[in-house]
Formats: sequence, structure tokens, C-alpha cells
Amino acid sequence: MTDLQRDVVIVGAGASGLTAATRLRAAGLSVAVLEARDRVGGRLWTDDVDGAMLELGGQWVSPDQDALIETLDELGLQTYSRYREGDSVYINAIGEQTRFTGEIFPVAASTQREMERLINVLDALVADIGPREPWAHPLAKELDSVTWIEWLTTQTDDIEARDNIALFIAEAMITKPAHAFSALQAILMAASAGSFSHLVDADFILDKRVIGGLQQVPLLLAEKLGDDVFLGQPVRRLEWTDAGVTAVADGMTVSARHAIVAVPPNLYSRIDFQPPLPRRQQQMHQHLSLGFVIKVHAVYETPFWRDAGLSGTAFSPYELVHEAYDNTNHDDPRGTLVGFVSDKKADHVFTLSAEERKQVILTSLSHYYGEQALNPVVYYESDWGSEEWTRGAYAASFDMGGLHRYGADLRTPVGPIHWSCSDLAAEGYQHVDGAIRVGRETADAILLRHTT
Ligand code: FDA
Repeated sequence: MTDLQRDVVIVGAGASGLTAATRLRAAGLSVAVLEARDRVGGRLWTDDVDGAMLELGGQWVSPDQDALIETLDELGLQTYSRYREGDSVYINAIGEQTRFTGEIFPVAASTQREMERLINVLDALVADIGPREPWAHPLAKELDSVTWIEWLTTQTDDIEARDNIALFIAEAMITKPAHAFSALQAILMAASAGSFSHLVDADFILDKRVIGGLQQVPLLLAEKLGDDVFLGQPVRRLEWTDAGVTAVADGMTVSARHAIVAVPPNLYSRIDFQPPLPRRQQQMHQHLSLGFVIKVHAVYETPFWRDAGLSGTAFSPYELVHEAYDNTNHDDPRGTLVGFVSDKKADHVFTLSAEERKQVILTSLSHYYGEQALNPVVYYESDWGSEEWTRGAYAASFDMGGLHRYGADLRTPVGPIHWSCSDLAAEGYQHVDGAIRVGRETADAILLRHTT
């Protein structure tokens, strides 16, 4: 058993924990980062699958994500644009496939007007409420007491407009059914990305990728931290007093003045806090859970859809794969499609055999791109629900009513213990940008306490 003494012990070597550790060490504090897995990066994982480089977790960078973009620059990482030339594809409720350009799906003129009106209503609400303290807004309780789908139903009688607008938050972001989270939670999601319009604009929200993969961010941060990062060290217990904390992992203990728990909140209860956390935290943490989405990767000899004038961008709230994109790697002659199967549809396909699941998912892709989509040379499903140290995708959100009830306490430290991850972010909520922002802010809060 190794026993270490440090100023700060960080639990979790994802983007958030590693950012905090880097900032603390740069300010002269000693750190130890304990990571449960045998790799760093958490929900960032760039891997080789059957000869194809795949982004199994997070990958896209959007122009408003300043903290992530600054980090990429600091680490010398280059980006490239997602392929977007040509037509996008939309499939309606009766399975009709239509090509379109721009952002608004090709629907009847009246439905289009409804979608545009709803986007305007949401943009105004999002601008008014903002990402920082949505729980403090006068409308917070009301909006947190109605589900996202119920709220949309009160706004429009147009079912197709409702389903399409719901998609941008439910399947595409929170990855829970639209009846399982509140309108306030949906507004936070949009506010964290700058506006609802940004979520509708795939060219904005899914703008760039990192050459060589986004996991290089945590890999390079960890490389610079060197011997201060310890892999295969799940923290099982945190013993704390107001004066300090001891983290007990499988092969080591670290005693420190402060701790940062940089893991998603659904995993807090995996740690045995001694003494137990206060009532408020014990209650609050039970109201946060991860959504669930399968990220499907299909690699083909060529990006054949481009020859047909398709950009690869495809949407339908009525398809098994509700959204899909050209995900071809930089300078790769092969073509890659990435598609997403969310929440209840993901539950359903996991009741099938692996072969049946592959067939129904590829069939859904073929509805967008034609028969050639049925025969990839590499096929892979990222199943984060089976990852012990994550347990879902993409990130955590509150159950009904939880955000206005508990939101203000999400990041309140408990004695020497601080909380840091993308799931607790304002700007960049649920995204790598948010993980980095919270990592920086948590480090700054500790530096302030440490010096005073
Ligand atoms: P993260 O979960 O990454 O890190 C926590 C770490 O703590 C993990 O390494 C875990 O192993 C470790 N840990 C847990 N319990 C522990 C314990 N008891 N002891 C020690 N270690 C422990 N974002 C984005 O910006 N663009 C995108 O395109 C996408 N797309 C996307 C797709 C998919 C499939 C996923 C799963 C996620 C995304 N995201 C994304 C989200 C993004 O990846 C995510 O928000 C951040 O990577 C989260 O970083 P954190 O450091 O906050 O947590």
C-alpha cells in the first residue's frame, strides 16, 4: 500500500479532473489524480477498432466552446470541419424521405412556420433564463414542474413540429424520453449552448473535430502531469474532516488538504464518504441520473453518400437512428457514418441479439443513405451503459422538479470536498467545454481557500 501526502487529491482523470489538477499544479500545489480505469479520458475515448480510428465518446467542438478551444490551442491540437457539402435528409412520420438544405426540416409550410415560431419562443426564454442560475428565475418552479413534451404540447397543436423540436433536446442532448425531464432542464441545455437556435444548427453545434481524436486532450494533460496520475485506482472511500481528507483506493491512500471528486454525479454513491455526506447532498444526488444513447459507427470503403450529393447529415424523430452524420476521419479515403439510437429505442435494441441489433440499425441508416449503408467494412456500437465507471451517455440531468429544488447546491463544497465535471456546468453543460470550465473554476476556488 502506497501512502502519499498532497495538497489536493483528485478523483477521476477525465477532462475536468485533469484540467483542475493542471491548474493547481501550475499554481504551486502538489496533486495526485486517482483514476479507476486503466486509461485516462473518461467519456473521451479515441480507439482503433478493426483498423478504423473511432471516437467512441465525445468528439465535436462548437465555436462558442472557448475553454475547450483554448485548451486545444495550448496543447497544440488541430481541428478540421465536419463534412457538410450537399443535401441533408429528413424522414417524416410515414417514412417519406426528403432532401433539404439549411436548418429547418422539409415539412409542410404550416409546420415549418410552427417550428420557426417555437424556436423563437425558446430562444427568448433561453436568453432570459440563461445557463448560470436557471433555478433562480421567477418561472423556474413552473417550468420545472412540466415535462418537456407536455410543455411543447401546450405551445402547439402541430404534432410534427412538436416532435421535431423535442428531438433537439430529448434524443439529441439529454438522451432521456421527452416525458422524463422538465422544460426547465431543456432550457438549461439550450442556454448552455448559447441559444436554442444553436442546437438546431448542426453546422454550429457539430462544427469541428480534432485531428487524431479528442481523447488527446486528457492524454496530453495527463502526460504533463506525469507521475501524479495513477491508473487502476478506483477511490472506494473518502475520510474527511474540515481539516483535510484521505482518499482510499485499491492500492494506495492519499492524504490531502482538499479533494476534488471529478466523476459524474451518478457515481458519487460508489464512494463511501466517512462521515456520510450531509442530508442535502445525500438527497440531491439521488435525483441526478445519466441519459442513455448508443453511438453507432459504420465505416465504408468510400464515403458513397457524397457521390449522391448527400452531406451525410440526417434526422428523423420517427427513425430508430434519430440523427446521423458524415464522420469520416481527417485525410481518410474511407467513409464513416455515425448515428445515434437514444433512450427507449436504445433499451429496445439491447433486447435483440447483437446480429439483429446491427441489422435493424443498419436498415435505419439505409433509409437515409440507401442500400449501400447495409454493408460497412467496420461496424461498432459505443455502449456507455455497460461502462462501470460511466453508466450512460452523454451526461447527467435532474429528474422532474430536481433542477429548481437542488440546482443551487450542485457545486457547494462539503468540508474539504469539491465537485467537478461537465454534468455540473453552466456554459458547456454536458460537454467537454463545460468539464474544462468547471475544472478551472474548482481549482480557483481551492486556490482561494488554500491561501486564505
Ligand atoms: P468523465 O466521465 O469523462 O471523467 C470522470 C472520470 O472519473 C472517468 O475517467 C472515470 O473512470 C473516473 N472515475 C469514476 N469513478 C471513479 C472513482 N471512484 N475513482 C477514481 N476514478 C473514478 N461532449 C462534447 O463536447 N462533444 C461531443 O461530441 C460529445 N459527444 C459525446 C458522445 C458520447 C458517446 C459520450 C459518452 C459523451 C459525449 N460528450 C460530448 C460528453 C463529454 O464526453 C463529457 O461531457 C466529458 O468528457 C465529461 O468529462 P468529465 O471529466 O466531466 O467526466
